[in-house]
Amino acid sequence: MKKILLLIVAVVIVAGAILFWVTNQSGTSQTTKTQSTSQKNKETSKMAENKTLIVYYSRTGNTKAVAELIHDRVGGDLVQIETKEARPKDYRSEVSQNAQEQNNNTLPALKTKVSNFDDYNRVFIGTPTWNMALPQAVESFMNDYNFSGKIVIPFNTNGGYGAGSTFSQIKSGTKGAKVLDGFSVEGGQETNGVLLAIKGNRRVEVAKELDKWLQKINIEK
Ligand SMILES: Cc1cc2nc3c(=O)[nH]c(=O)nc-3n(C[C@H](O)[C@H](O)[C@H](O)COP(=O)(O)O)c2cc1C
Repeated sequence: MKKILLLIVAVVIVAGAILFWVTNQSGTSQTTKTQSTSQKNKETSKMAENKTLIVYYSRTGNTKAVAELIHDRVGGDLVQIETKEARPKDYRSEVSQNAQEQNNNTLPALKTKVSNFDDYNRVFIGTPTWNMALPQAVESFMNDYNFSGKIVIPFNTNGGYGAGSTFSQIKSGTKGAKVLDGFSVEGGQETNGVLLAIKGNRRVEVAKELDKWLQKINIEK
């Protein structure tokens, strides 16, 4: 009888110990789970903290129109690149001044300053095609800032001959950045008297193309 009683006490003690261990274990794993979930949340919110800058150069408003459409979709800050010296109003004079600047690799001084440039991790750079290349003002802008570690996303408007070397120039001008596939669309043709072409129905069409591109390169707000 005494033996049976002892056995019962022993069984109760062992069962108690097992219960205590199991309860403690699940508590620990719960804490670990909570910790890793909060870690994940932190990382996700870090990724969501995209600080976006959209800079663009534009003479007749087409690149500006695309920049505004991008801004509507991804938010961030919109900044126009402007030179200190006023540019020629006359198309032919601009064509020859630009060709000269490109040939001599002149970097026109800029009025535009982005004092908090280092805060941005994503920089859209918009430009028209000039002489199948980049207007030198955009080279000036890239020369003024350090793009290392940033994501750079180029976009372009042109008179029907394409982006030319604008995207490859943006890639070489933003050393250390990850440069995504650019967006290029037909804009104005000043030679034929067409200045701002990206308006009305054309703007709606461009917006649709833009949405496809943003989806393809995985860009969200
Ligand atoms: C100086 C100058 C040079 C240009 N050179 C080209 C060119 O080489 N190829 C082209 O397709 N369009 C060329 N264009 C046309 C522009 O790329 C086109 O009109 C563009 O949409 C203008 O953008 P914006 O309205 O933002 O200034 C040139 C325009 C200017 C003013």
